[in-house]
Amino acid sequence: MSGHFCVKLQGLRKVYGERVVLDIDDLGFEAGRSYALVGPNGSGKSTLLRVLSGVIPASGGAIDVEGDILRDDVRVGYMPQKSYTFGFSVARNVALALDGMKLSKSEVTARVERALRDVGMWEMADARGSGLSGGEAQRVALARLLVRDLDVVLLDEPTASMDIAGTLLAEETLERYRERTGCLTIMATHAPSQARRISHDAVMLAAGCVVEKGTTDQVLSHPTSEAGREFLSYWAV
Ligand SMILES: Nc1ncnc2c1ncn2[C@@H]1O[C@H](COP(=O)(O)OP(=O)(O)OP(=O)(O)O)[C@@H](O)[C@H]1O
Ligand SMILES: [Mg+2]
Repeated sequence: MSGHFCVKLQGLRKVYGERVVLDIDDLGFEAGRSYALVGPNGSGKSTLLRVLSGVIPASGGAIDVEGDILRDDVRVGYMPQKSYTFGFSVARNVALALDGMKLSKSEVTARVERALRDVGMWEMADARGSGLSGGEAQRVALARLLVRDLDVVLLDEPTASMDIAGTLLAEETLERYRERTGCLTIMATHAPSQARRISHDAVMLAAGCVVEKGTTDQVLSHPTSEAGREFLSYWAV
């Protein structure tokens, strides 16, 4: 595992046409910590995760990595809001994340089994990826992400389609993974109870801007901004 590092955002902007959908002055994420990203629909949570993952470029600003690791060495994994699975088997869907890593066949088999057991999908290892339910597809997508050791794990509402048993299993799996790897986790969620269960810190976005940041309890129980108070008034926290 890499040593300590911090991901720093400065003046980060994403613009579509005339519209600024992300405008973050100054924000830092520390390795080893778990952040919940909250905010209303369209506030920019997915956009921020997509920019951080490199899936889309920022329109301006900087993402820097400070600490015991070079930016290009940071291993980043991203689970998009819409899970996708390929038509081949569930096991192959997960194993493909290990392609190119020069692992032995037995090591790949063992890692895939562990990842699928961790999300409760081992019994369906031979099923076709194309026939999965929404929640099953999310579980497989999570297994595919966590089958590798990563420094930064970006999750976009990873349990939104899962039932409660699947959600709790996924949260336990993430927690164990975090403890083992010391990774930085940033997870968008619409569930306040989930934010409280799994994250030390929370960042709230509204209209692309950070309106609250701090410990999860501070952000969810003592919002300081008007936008934060309004958003949380709809949440039974
Ligand atoms: N490719 C795009 N082209 C134009 N506008 C976009 C594009 N992607 C996102 N947007 C806009 O940017 C804004 C932020 O979208 P984003 O998906 O980041 O919101 P979100 O906070 O993840 O919302 P949700 O809670 O619904 O997932 C939205 O108003 C959206 O319409
Ligand atoms: Mg989103």
